[in-house]
Amino acid sequence: MLKNKRIILGISGGIAAYKMANVASMLVKLGADVHVIMTEAATHFITPQTFEVLTKNKCYVDIFERDGNIHVPHVTLATTADAFLIAPATADVVGKIANGIADDMLTSTILPALCPVIIAPSMNVHMYENKIVQSNIDKLKSFGYEIIEAASGYLACGDVGKGKLPSEEILVDYILKACAKEKDLAGKNILVTAGPTKESIDPVRYITNHSTGKMGYAIAKMAMLRGANVTLVTGETNITPPSFVDVVKVISAKDMYEAVTSRRDSQDIIIKSAAVADYRPINVAEDKIKKSDGDMSIPLERTDDILAYLGANKKPGQFICGFSMETQNMLENSRAKLVKKNVDMIAANNLKQEGAGFGTDTNIITLITKDEVVELPMLSKDAVADSILDAILSNV
Ligand code: CTP
Repeated sequence: MLKNKRIILGISGGIAAYKMANVASMLVKLGADVHVIMTEAATHFITPQTFEVLTKNKCYVDIFERDGNIHVPHVTLATTADAFLIAPATADVVGKIANGIADDMLTSTILPALCPVIIAPSMNVHMYENKIVQSNIDKLKSFGYEIIEAASGYLACGDVGKGKLPSEEILVDYILKACAKEKDLAGKNILVTAGPTKESIDPVRYITNHSTGKMGYAIAKMAMLRGANVTLVTGETNITPPSFVDVVKVISAKDMYEAVTSRRDSQDIIIKSAAVADYRPINVAEDKIKKSDGDMSIPLERTDDILAYLGANKKPGQFICGFSMETQNMLENSRAKLVKKNVDMIAANNLKQEGAGFGTDTNIITLITKDEVVELPMLSKDAVADSILDAILSNV
């Protein structure tokens, strides 16, 4: 995801500097060209050599040190980077940036930076809460720098409170959001549904399906990386929702109906990849149903069809994409859903095809609109998500 992207990591002298080795390694694995700049203080916590081995690039500390490969490194790096993360940013570095001081390699590279600059202040809780530090952080926000709020917990000094550097995954997510994708969905409100619904039978049992939420979560993630404001309405899953999306957790088809219909007015695009139960038990027993010798059956009633409701009550200009999971006559059945539910596109998949459907990391999708049918090859769910978003963009 970061192929051909140049990322600068600026590391200042806090104990959390050690975490940045992992961040550098994660970025390299995502394909990025990573350049690390350390303050002299940071070298007391981790060595430049660690980063040189991990990134295969020179790690800069001294602004006057010559580098045969890059001309005037602080300017060249700053003006050619796609994203710049300063983490941990100590009170000292926060104060220097906020006041335009550029007295070493790191701070001198921040001033000419043309790319998104992300700053993760990290320090002792009392330093973090100090009014001068807070005022400097506010100043940085007002200048357009993105601030990653410090996490709370046990701090290296022994205090408990706010000041921790967030996890490496969170730091990498900020970089991905800043530069992984072109922001061609900026300003769009997109609601995505994902995962299964659960319909209770009694306090012990429920009816559900095999959906894992992977497809919907991939769509939510890609839409977020492409700049959209994403709401993810999700049934229960075992996967972590993407960062920077508004997550609404639901259990049953009724919950999902309410969560989606109450938010639909403000959405430009709605993508319904959830596997919603079509039926639920008419009565939910208050106590556990005890077994008896004979067989039993459970009377079921229809749930509301959320997609059909959205299609019937579509706002002008709103784009609605449904999913269709079939095991036979995929094209014919999916076309019928497109018409019956009055939606703009159906992403159809055949559960019986290897590499498609529930739980896999890949999918094989056919995109059906009223004018065309586009068969996609087997792709990762991330790539399928991008293709669905591309198709929506070319139809809106
Ligand atoms: N869907 C919905 N509400 C329901 C059932 C389905 O919004 N109560 C949506 C799904 O999220 C999906 C689309 O309708 O986007 C198609 O779902 P699918 O299960 O493939 O088909 P159904 O319409 O339920 O029809 P059938 O089960 O007969 O194939």
